Amino acid sequence: MIQRAVVIGSGTMGGGIAAHFANAGVPVYLLDISTQIVTASFERMKKSKPPAFFTPETADLVTIGSLDEHEAWIGEGDWIIEAIVEELEPKRALVARIDRLRKKGSIVSSNTSGLPIAKIAANASSDFKAHFLGTHFFNPPRYMKLLEIIPTKETKEEVTKVVRKFAEHRLGKGVVLCKDTPNFIANRLASISGASLVDYVLANGYTIEETDAIAGPLIGRPKTAAFRLQDLVGLDVASSVAKNLYDLIEGDESRDVLRSPRLEALRKDQMDRSRLGDKTAQGFYKKGGKSILTLDLQTKEYRERREPEIPSIAEAMKIRSLPKRLDFVLRQGDKAGSLARHIVYNSLAYAARRIPEITDDIVNVDRTMRWGFSHDLGPFELWDSLGVRATAEAMKKNNVAVAPWVEEMLASGHESFYRGESYYDPARRAYVSIAPDPRTIDLAKGRVVRENKGASLIDIGDGVLCLAFHTKMNTLDEDVRTMIAESVEELEKGAWVGMVIGNEGADFSVGANLAGGSFSSGSEALSRAVKAMQDALMAVRFCAKPVVTAPFGRTLAGGAEVTMAGARIVAASETYMGLVEVGVGLVPGAGGCKELIRRVVSPALRQSPNADPLPFVQNVLQTIGAAKVSTSAADAKALGFLDAGDRIVMNRDHLLFAAKEEVLELAADGYAPPVRDKSCYAAGRDVLAALKAGIYVLQQGAYMSEYDASISSKLASILCGGNLSSGQWVDEQFFLDREREVFVDLGREPKTRDRIQHMLSTGKPLRN
Ligand code: NAI
Repeated sequence: MIQRAVVIGSGTMGGGIAAHFANAGVPVYLLDISTQIVTASFERMKKSKPPAFFTPETADLVTIGSLDEHEAWIGEGDWIIEAIVEELEPKRALVARIDRLRKKGSIVSSNTSGLPIAKIAANASSDFKAHFLGTHFFNPPRYMKLLEIIPTKETKEEVTKVVRKFAEHRLGKGVVLCKDTPNFIANRLASISGASLVDYVLANGYTIEETDAIAGPLIGRPKTAAFRLQDLVGLDVASSVAKNLYDLIEGDESRDVLRSPRLEALRKDQMDRSRLGDKTAQGFYKKGGKSILTLDLQTKEYRERREPEIPSIAEAMKIRSLPKRLDFVLRQGDKAGSLARHIVYNSLAYAARRIPEITDDIVNVDRTMRWGFSHDLGPFELWDSLGVRATAEAMKKNNVAVAPWVEEMLASGHESFYRGESYYDPARRAYVSIAPDPRTIDLAKGRVVRENKGASLIDIGDGVLCLAFHTKMNTLDEDVRTMIAESVEELEKGAWVGMVIGNEGADFSVGANLAGGSFSSGSEALSRAVKAMQDALMAVRFCAKPVVTAPFGRTLAGGAEVTMAGARIVAASETYMGLVEVGVGLVPGAGGCKELIRRVVSPALRQSPNADPLPFVQNVLQTIGAAKVSTSAADAKALGFLDAGDRIVMNRDHLLFAAKEEVLELAADGYAPPVRDKSCYAAGRDVLAALKAGIYVLQQGAYMSEYDASISSKLASILCGGNLSSGQWVDEQFFLDREREVFVDLGREPKTRDRIQHMLSTGKPLRN
């Protein structure tokens, strides 16, 4: 059991790792050389953007101290993580100290980008070695999914298991077990492929803009592409990783690219001029006033951005499917085609040539590149999608060496790396099944019970249904609304136990589809559409069987309203939830206001009937009026979107499974829907007057535009239940009717229409 962690080294990684253990609810001691250093690091970590901690209060779980004064704390840790400088000797000295102080049975890990793990602990006791391994978190540790775990030959199997399970369940990471080889998997592949890419670019006169336009989404990689990524990582870090690596990989046929004179000259020049990247505010890109300047690779001076003039890039970007797009790009005779061929053929072939040296199986490699570098597909998945044989032929034509095991695989008639749920294992020369994770649910494998263009109702086993949206960005439209209503019908009439509302998209839902017909049609049609959505969500809320909602990522506006309609919420820890309607000149219209009244105001008044409702209603007004979006699920709880009984799951991959478990538990406990009574407190006209006075002051102080003030006043009126002469308990429909009235009213306003148009064309709110 990991009940207390100790992190030594409070820099970028140590600080981030400590924060994430705190996010997981584990108390942490964070140590560094001096109190001054650790205090400064901790303060920086508390202000970091994006935030390292789930909520400001989470930081209270971290206790800071200096190694000399508080070394005894090491003896209290169940897991001690060392994250000091990337140098062997200091790490070894620290290991000796930990060896002397640690309690028996405690686990110790070194966080390193690629130093040999066994060497770090070479002089330690045998008990230490049995409990020691490498952990390679990615920066920032809270947000990056990949965690490479590197056991040595002496690490006890049980220790690896405990660490893996803790990392997956409590820290929410995607774990890849690596061999103890230089730079493990991620940085080994990235260092060589990255160096080879830049060397090619320099040799063939590409600009930085051209390179990043080709090496990014065009070929299934993130926008940071090549040079932008270098700036993020820092040239000092990248060069020291490359330098360490060269000496350690004597047998690697590709290592000379790390010492390419062109590359070394560029690096030296950039380092001499302190152009390390974001950390020195200049690298390959530099902020120049309002615009971003680019380094000219010829003159080594910064200049204005120059759009790449390669027509095939825009042409290719119209093709949505990655394999088809890539196939198109790889056939081009222009600059895009040749650089893409260089990157794709070399990186895929190099990954294959490193098997079994750095790992025995291709699944590990694919996961590493997807989870660590956000590639859309791992190298073997990508190779499969392009056709293994044809691509191997193309590689050879381009003088890229194909690994003998791939040739052998093809010669024996096996045409792909993956086959269904199995992958090709070169050691066995056969396909081996991929071990399924029992805590995940693959919706594609469930039986479709009902379906339309916007959503599907899927049987996920044990009598549980899953309602999954699949519109663009999971926006809510007429199809989705119909499917919500039909799903409740199906659930109540069939022999089902309960239902999960969740999906596998990039975000749970960004809210109503603003481009949909309702917003451009007349008030009556809009009112009907809003009423239908309200009814559908009320049917969810009062369904006779338990409905559990499973939000993750962006859960905005209508997405938040769907979430709050469930009997219980099981949220991914990374849930960014908010009622953001005012951004488009509207108010929540499908129960968002009602739910926050029910969740924030009503419990306070029920507990103390004589309490002043003003601060509670004001709180809700601020949450909706300022379109606050939670920075995590824990923050969503603090804002009142989640109740005390709602659950938070750290690993997004486990979310649907956890939600299904919750459905089964609620059903087993004899679920009964909420009673339709007067569960909402309407504060009435005195509170409304006070809120309006506050809005007036904000507007006079120019903190709010006139139109925002007008929307806020209408919102305040909903939240108080209108002009009631005194506070009183009302039913949910009472609030819903007010929400709908104001929503439809605002929908007619030209300024609201302008806001909607602006959002549709720019993706950003307009403050008019
Ligand atoms: P950093 O330079 O930001 O922080 C290192 C911290 O360790 C500093 O606060 C320093 O005062 C402290 N320190 C140095 N020697 C110490 C000693 N003998 N005893 C106690 N504290 C000591 O370094 P960063 O970036 O956090 O890296 C830490 C480790 O994590 C390195 O091994 C690095 O290779 C690895 N790593 C770094 C990544 C990154 O993106 N920065 C990513 C993954 C791994």
